[in-house]
Amino acid sequence: MKRLTSKKIESITPYAPGKPVEELERELGISGSIKLASNENPIGPSPKGIAAIADCIKGLNRYPDGAAHYLKDAISEKFGCSPPEIILGNGSNELLDIIVRTFLLEGEEAVYAEPSFVVYKMSVQAAGRKGISVPLKDGKHDLAAMADAINERTKIIFIANPNNPTGTINTQAEIGAFMARVPEDAIVVVDEAYFEYVTNPEYPDTFKYLRDGRNIIILRTFSKVYGLAGLRIGYGFAPARLVDFMNRVRAPFNTNSIAQAAAMAALSDDEHVRRSVEVNEEGKKYLYAELTKMGVDYLPTQANFIWMDLHKVARKLYDALLRKGVIVRPMGPTQIRVTIGLMPENERFVKAMREVS
Ligand SMILES: Cc1ncc(COP(=O)(O)O)c(C=O)c1O
Repeated sequence: MKRLTSKKIESITPYAPGKPVEELERELGISGSIKLASNENPIGPSPKGIAAIADCIKGLNRYPDGAAHYLKDAISEKFGCSPPEIILGNGSNELLDIIVRTFLLEGEEAVYAEPSFVVYKMSVQAAGRKGISVPLKDGKHDLAAMADAINERTKIIFIANPNNPTGTINTQAEIGAFMARVPEDAIVVVDEAYFEYVTNPEYPDTFKYLRDGRNIIILRTFSKVYGLAGLRIGYGFAPARLVDFMNRVRAPFNTNSIAQAAAMAALSDDEHVRRSVEVNEEGKKYLYAELTKMGVDYLPTQANFIWMDLHKVARKLYDALLRKGVIVRPMGPTQIRVTIGLMPENERFVKAMREVS
């Protein structure tokens, strides 16, 4: 009998998506719950993006523009890169997979932090390759330890900046020192899914490494500040020689026409971005103050979520919050990650926390 799949694939822990809210509510016999579990934009999608969707529906009998010319032009204009340096994916999630499938060859290894975005590990495992995880230090990527973990087999290093789930960043100086230690033939993937929310002036300008001709891939997404998570569209910047190979691996129509149209419109929706960041800042300040009052140990965030260490089994608190209709994300044995919501949602979370703690 042939094996159905490889042992490596059998050993992958499936990604645990949050259950649909309706299903959770049915199970618990509750209604009106709030979801603060997936780092989504609480103010909703960009209105300009929504309008663009309505306009493109009548053309759905046609395949999308597989090269996404217009969207790439718009991205290149906004960020000052040329279209051949841009790659689009069905969410930045798909880009992670494409990167691994394109570049992580047999016998080569990847390095990533733990805890960080789980898809790095999952993509590497799914490709049957070896990943080395390096623990965070004080909630941040320990870039010195990650550089120490690089060996002659290391091909890809993943850095989430800001990191999910901790919301921390690595500074320009830290990334600079790290890049100086990375061999020229390794590829550094810097995942900047939350960069629009960053307020720390020491946040790195990673385009510098692209201009220097380094093997760097900078990942961004329309899922967070632009509020288009449901459409699945992300983008990346890399030297044209890398983009060329990734384009050979990706499916020809990996981003759909609705997503391309909405993303293009959202990109110019400065007011929606400004408002999204403002709501996040307001919620962040409120939650910091309330968590401090409650004595909850949290990490200051540069993203749209806050990581909290409860110093007791997180699952119990998660279940208790759930019964009150507040959905957060358990993260590790004693930690939870909570997305910053609209003010009434933040207040409801705080009230529920007080009741169940
Ligand atoms: C660090 C990080 N990278 C990538 C993603 C995936 O985003 P997308 O919706 O573009 O696939 C997420 C989503 O939560 C994330 O937290």
